[in-house]
Amino acid sequence: MSSTPFLAPSIREDEEAVEQTLRPRSLDDFVGQERVKEQLGIALTAAKARGEALDHVLLVGPPGLGKTSLAHIVREELGVGIRTVAGPALERKDIAAILSSVEARDVIFVDEIHRMSRAAEEILYPALEDFRLDIVMGQGVAARTITLDLEPFTLVGATTRTGLLTSPLRDRFGMTFRLDYYDAGQLAQIVKRSARILGVSIVDDAAEEIAGRSRGTPRIANRILRRVRDVAQVRHEGSISTAIAQEALELLEVDEAGLERIDRALLRTIVEKFDGGPVGLTTLAASLGEEPDTIEDVYEPFMLQLGFIQRTPRGRTITRLGRAHIGAASADTKLF
Ligand SMILES: Nc1ncnc2c1ncn2[C@@H]1O[C@H](COP(=O)(O)OP(=O)(O)O)[C@@H](O)[C@H]1O
Ligand SMILES: [Mg+2]
Repeated sequence: MSSTPFLAPSIREDEEAVEQTLRPRSLDDFVGQERVKEQLGIALTAAKARGEALDHVLLVGPPGLGKTSLAHIVREELGVGIRTVAGPALERKDIAAILSSVEARDVIFVDEIHRMSRAAEEILYPALEDFRLDIVMGQGVAARTITLDLEPFTLVGATTRTGLLTSPLRDRFGMTFRLDYYDAGQLAQIVKRSARILGVSIVDDAAEEIAGRSRGTPRIANRILRRVRDVAQVRHEGSISTAIAQEALELLEVDEAGLERIDRALLRTIVEKFDGGPVGLTTLAASLGEEPDTIEDVYEPFMLQLGFIQRTPRGRTITRLGRAHIGAASADTKLF
């Protein structure tokens, strides 16, 4: 049962290419997150007018909410180059190479910046602060530091939680933007925009049907849309009606709350095998044939957000809402 669930919000390898084509290209194109757009827009306009590099930007939020898209929009709006690197893969020497080749006002995008090594992080400090790179040559008594002046650049960092960053690193960002989950109206707008780009017609109600089951996450909305489009193409005439959207969602076993089969299995396991909980994470994982990490990182966040389960010091419990969702009797009514 350990395959990645369909609705996991992190990017799948097979979707890199299509995401590129669906990515908003400008702030105007970027749906929702109004305050972020407003503040970022002002900072961009001001930096451009002064001909300076934009302050370093930290983007914070769960996967699939638009962090990578915003990094590319920043570069697009500034009309400069971008270098994209993954935090975990970044070594000292890579950073030195990137920094010393950066052109004036370029963007360096570090994804998963909280997973950067300590050594990599430390070489970044003077670069972020004074656009300066300190390189140590030689060893022991013969060691000396050479300082290299860099072109001014903008670091855009992406992370899921600010708490994961060391405070010296956090402090070096001039701006921090938190992305929130999207509401159904915004997701419907994103679905319609994506449908247009994919060249498929969709009625408003169908876009809303998809939006309502997308867990507040544009990446998931787009992923469902692509599967719905397949069903429309194979079983129907090609354009997406509400009935087709519902048929496809049923096929995917995605319910009205945006839960898929494995989520419901988790809820049912807590009720049926552990009397509603609390049940420890490892016990629950073993009983579902999953890794504890997968449960914690992939399934739980959304069900916690819905208020279907709770994390207690003694383990996971199902809530009244969670029980109602799977049609299980409440703990207190089952006595009667
Ligand atoms: N605000 C938005 N407006 C329109 N589409 C969006 C928006 N945010 C995200 N998307 C869509 O969702 C996909 C995933 O966004 P991405 O920027 O890769 O998220 P993250 O980097 O936070 O995981 C993008 O390819 C884009 O199609
Ligand atoms: Mg990303």
